[in-house]
Amino acid sequence: MIWSRIVGTGSYLPPKVVTNDDLARQMDTSDEWIRTRTGIRQRHIAEPSQASSDLAVEASRAALAAARILPQEIDLIIVATSTPDYIFPSTACIMQAKLGIKGCAAFDIQAVCSGFVYALAIADKLIRSGQHRCALIVGAEVYSRILDWKDRGTAVLFGDGAGAVILRADSKPGIMASALHADGSYVDILSVPGNVCGGKIVGSPFLRMDGQAVFKFAVKVLDEVARETLAMCGLTPADVDWLIPHQANLRILEATARKLGIDPSKLIVTVDRHGNTSAASVPLALDVAIRDGRIKPGHKIMLQGVGGGFTWGASLVEM
Ligand code: ACO
Repeated sequence: MIWSRIVGTGSYLPPKVVTNDDLARQMDTSDEWIRTRTGIRQRHIAEPSQASSDLAVEASRAALAAARILPQEIDLIIVATSTPDYIFPSTACIMQAKLGIKGCAAFDIQAVCSGFVYALAIADKLIRSGQHRCALIVGAEVYSRILDWKDRGTAVLFGDGAGAVILRADSKPGIMASALHADGSYVDILSVPGNVCGGKIVGSPFLRMDGQAVFKFAVKVLDEVARETLAMCGLTPADVDWLIPHQANLRILEATARKLGIDPSKLIVTVDRHGNTSAASVPLALDVAIRDGRIKPGHKIMLQGVGGGFTWGASLVEM
């Protein structure tokens, strides 16, 4: 039987740091308000010359080095992003060229903040089918480009970054189970409701959000999808060594752990350092906790995404 295993991770945050105090100098907000409502202390902002593919390349190089494999060994690339370089071609193809890889399948998937978890589940299935053997899966975002910097209700929440994993075929798991969901009737609670037509922006190019509706929805579905994924393996929340929900907001993370009955000490939190980096947030947090030694071989990790769509999903992973 073919399974897929994570054999390397990497992440990248652009060097420019914007603290809450920096934001308080340009809009009516405060470090105290942002920290107590969200847990966020700072975010990283890409330079104008950096696109999602550039952030993705840096995270991918780190993941390739950690996995000790050459770019040419990759036979599948999936990039999860809702801030692509272009309308087309995909950020995955642009990144593939920048990494000097030729010929393998490469495509983007769009599930907003659930994008990485969606991409991981898709890559797992393609590897388990025997069609592919070594996948590079990346979440990369430049949300600073789609924020209305005059809207304090959303601008303080997000940041730019990328995270990557290498997933390889193996005789043992690996990705133990995944579940993916969406409910399009919630399109309006979190969206960038714009497009380009005839050389003009039609609609709005900025992120809009109903914060309280998002909060309630996120905690409910993160609890449900974790239990669903564990049940597929005959396990319970007590079997989880580390919980890595989408890093949107510390209060959402803590409420999710509480609902699942998972001790807060098993929660991996990086949102304080980089804000909500959408599809990049789960692989970023995973990489940090692997590199600082908390996540060890044999540990069971629950990865969870939730975001615009609404979309949500989870993967239970044995390292
Ligand atoms: N600084 C200071 N005051 C602010 C700010 C700010 N940055 N933003 C809003 N306020 C004010 C509001 O104007 C309002 O003032 P008023 O009472 O005078 O009208 C007051 O603070 C309370 O506003 P609410 O929106 O009710 O604040 P709430 O307690 O709901 O917190 C927040 C807002 C943090 C966005 C919260 O709803 C939340 O955490 N939602 C989850 C959303 C989230 O994490 N989204 C990320 C994207 S979604 C995803 O990734 C899944």
